[in-house]
Amino acid sequence: TGFWVVIPAAGVGSRMLADRPKQYLPLAGRALIEHTLGCFLSHPRLRGLVVSLAADDPYWNSLDCASDERIGRAVGGSERADSVLNGLFRLLALGASDTDWVLVHDAARPNLQRADLDGLLEQLSRDPVGGLLAVPAKDTLKRAGADGRVAETVDRSVIWLAYTPQMFRLGMLREALQQALAAGVRVTDEASAMEWAGYAPRLIEGRADNIKVTRPEDLHWLEQQWPGALI
Ligand code: CTP
Ligand code: MG
Repeated sequence: TGFWVVIPAAGVGSRMLADRPKQYLPLAGRALIEHTLGCFLSHPRLRGLVVSLAADDPYWNSLDCASDERIGRAVGGSERADSVLNGLFRLLALGASDTDWVLVHDAARPNLQRADLDGLLEQLSRDPVGGLLAVPAKDTLKRAGADGRVAETVDRSVIWLAYTPQMFRLGMLREALQQALAAGVRVTDEASAMEWAGYAPRLIEGRADNIKVTRPEDLHWLEQQWPGALI
């Protein structure tokens, strides 16, 4: 059985402080988003893929992958959830159905490895809800008080960092996102919409280096450890 993919790529990257949205910054000679797409486009079980782009995006069309007929497009929205939802509707128009698996993956997460993708697909293939790649917290965790002092140390053993891809049945995810948006709940990932709808997504441990580029130092770190970077 195959899977569908939505890549939300309509953010502005305000925390990156760059001259363009971070998904279009160069990494090892190509735009970040091209690395991101590669892991999915090379997968034999991919059924279709949609990128959600800002309505006035001037960057996408100059990429090599803009002419790739396997890549569909949707218009992004003001919140990530809007961008993902528009992508899901586009997939339905391309022939996906509500019972199909869909993977949502950040455009700004270019270092996804095939083994992590396959692990997610395999471990969730018979799951009634779905789930997400995640990484156990490794540092000691402090909850801050209003005065900038430590209010308490939090139990690290139960804390995970939510990564992507996040994998759900298309119809369940669509309804959860629609309900969360209608209720005005702030959802920063697909799992939180599913949680809000009453489901318990499964945590699938992935590689810590599947980082989301969020701040300048994230891109510097990726550049240094990218294969061939030190040659
Ligand atoms: N995203 C999107 N539509 C939005 C907001 C975000 O498609 N309205 C996408 C981003 O392009 C990114 C992913 O969601 O690939 C993760 O979001 P985030 O890291 O927050 O990216 P930005 O919102 O672009 O960055 P920032 O929050 O720093 O402005
Ligand atoms: Mg954001």
